[in-house]
Amino acid sequence: MAAVNKIQPQTISFNLNGQTIEAAQDETILQAAKREGVEIPHLCYTDGMRADGNCRACVVEIDGERTLAPSCCRYPTEGMTISSENERSVKSQKMVLELLQSDMAETQYSLNSELDYWSQKLDVSKPRFESRHQPQLDVSHPAIAVNLDACIQCTRCVRACREVQVNDVIGYAHRGGHSKIVFDLDDPMGDSTCVACGECVQACPTGALMPANEVGLKEPDKTVDWSALIVVSDVY
Ligand code: SF4
Ligand code: FES
Repeated sequence: MAAVNKIQPQTISFNLNGQTIEAAQDETILQAAKREGVEIPHLCYTDGMRADGNCRACVVEIDGERTLAPSCCRYPTEGMTISSENERSVKSQKMVLELLQSDMAETQYSLNSELDYWSQKLDVSKPRFESRHQPQLDVSHPAIAVNLDACIQCTRCVRACREVQVNDVIGYAHRGGHSKIVFDLDDPMGDSTCVACGECVQACPTGALMPANEVGLKEPDKTVDWSALIVVSDVY
């Protein structure tokens, strides 16, 4: 009997938080949710980058599955029922954010920290856990400050350096509590083969890698009330 070629449907229909939505064949749950305006926290994934699935901030519950699934690297299938907002999913997302926050430096390096954004969104306040031992700051590079005490080891910088720019300067070394981001053979960044392309700075969600001239920039505690200033041309 001749083989029958099955035509794959172009889109997949699945249920997310009680709503039926459609996803393209190559869309992950996270991507489809985002397109539909459903926000699921995510840190080790960012648009345009290969998903790595290491932070687990994006977990969702899929009906019939025992464990929560990382939505950044799971593809929906026809008829799947998923919840990103039920108690179990949110509790787990919040726990991940709290654990990551517990490792954050006292100094807030970036005003645009994605970790802070998601923590505020999910109402994660002061972490209950102790911080791990943090690596020293590395200010050896003239253009990029390395503040690994704000690193959540999401490896976005590694993928940016290796897979986007194909420079392969940044790596992830050691194990367990000693694991950390390194440059070449754990050299100071300024002595490494870094070409200062800035891709890692763009990729970093916490300010652990940032432009050297922006370190220490804070929200101003005083501002000028321009309306109270006398305009010179009005006086003379
Ligand atoms: S330096 Fe930034 S991008 Fe790299 S692993 Fe740490 S937090 Fe992620
Ligand atoms: S964003 Fe999905 S595991 Fe990190």
